[in-house]
Amino acid sequence: MKWKEQMLSLKAYQPGRTTDDVKKAYGLKEVVKLASNENPFGSSEKVKECIHAYADSFAIYPDGYTGSLRTVMAEFLQLDEKQLIFGNGSDEIILMISRAMLEPGKNTVMPTPTFPQYRHNAVVEGAEVREIELLEGAHDLDKMADAIDENTAIVWLCSPNNPTGIHITDNELRAFLDRVPQDVFVVLDEAYYEYVTAEDYFDAREIIKQYKNVIVLRTFSKIYGLAAFRVGYGFADESLIAQLDPVREPFNVNTLGQQTAAAAISDQSFIEMCSSENKAGLEQFYAFCKEENLDYYPSEANFILIDFKCDSDELFEYLMSKGYIVRSGAALGVPGTVRVTVGSKEQNEGVMRAMKSFLTETVKR
Ligand SMILES: Cc1ncc(COP(=O)(O)O)c(C=O)c1O
Repeated sequence: MKWKEQMLSLKAYQPGRTTDDVKKAYGLKEVVKLASNENPFGSSEKVKECIHAYADSFAIYPDGYTGSLRTVMAEFLQLDEKQLIFGNGSDEIILMISRAMLEPGKNTVMPTPTFPQYRHNAVVEGAEVREIELLEGAHDLDKMADAIDENTAIVWLCSPNNPTGIHITDNELRAFLDRVPQDVFVVLDEAYYEYVTAEDYFDAREIIKQYKNVIVLRTFSKIYGLAAFRVGYGFADESLIAQLDPVREPFNVNTLGQQTAAAAISDQSFIEMCSSENKAGLEQFYAFCKEENLDYYPSEANFILIDFKCDSDELFEYLMSKGYIVRSGAALGVPGTVRVTVGSKEQNEGVMRAMKSFLTETVKR
């Protein structure tokens, strides 16, 4: 078989264990998943109403232009419809961009650690990956700009960054973009945008007006609580979207995804509730970390990376045995830490209790 050389050593994405899996393995009745930054409050009631309305139309292909959701989103974002692209999750837009731009002989610049799909897709396309270490959990934008050369096709920015939760400020972003050549494509992944409360945060719509080489990615999988439907979107200058669109699969966003996303966007009071609950949840974790003397990064997202300075896999297994699935830092390139999704107040209290008993037990040893 004539596989691409790089495919021979590439591993498939390892999804975390499901709650059913963990219940069975540990004989637990209740398991809480705080591993994938999903919304503990589910989704808007409007989503449920809308699902019933579409129960009879499954034999028909979805709208290949994502027309009605496009109209809703253009209105919501105050953008032209032609400035939008939709994907089967923002994952698919990351794949489309990589497929359209990367090939052997080109390189791509990204922070590390960050969302692993940037690297994964670049490797599949045979491009050189230039990874720039984070500084205190934040992008080292100076070093990233230094790494760009005439063969750089894409720069990836993740704000707030997964897994550290640290955002890029408006000033930092503009200073960086001023240094990026106009023929280098900058992807600004804002999967957790709706959770951000920092006052020095940028307005992505202003950024794309000023910098025509930037695309912004957002998703319905996080605060909108629609991860199961796989809907992500990107916005940029119309010319970028037109050039990217031919790599998109014909019917890439499923019908229920399109309808539920439109319903979800119309309920901003649900989003405000989730965002303020998340803020309160983060405060619970900060207080816990201070009490237990644990280092953490202050987060602008719905997760927190906590440094236990221990074997992350051991802590991960321990928490799982107590009914809490988190993400081991070892798997994220930050050994010694775990990344926990902020859950409901009770879920946060529960996982912190389990963390505390881990700390007590390991000190005893
Ligand atoms: C930074 C970041 N970007 C993109 C995604 C992909 O989201 P989705 O494909 O569900 O839209 C995730 C999911 O965890 C993420 O953390």
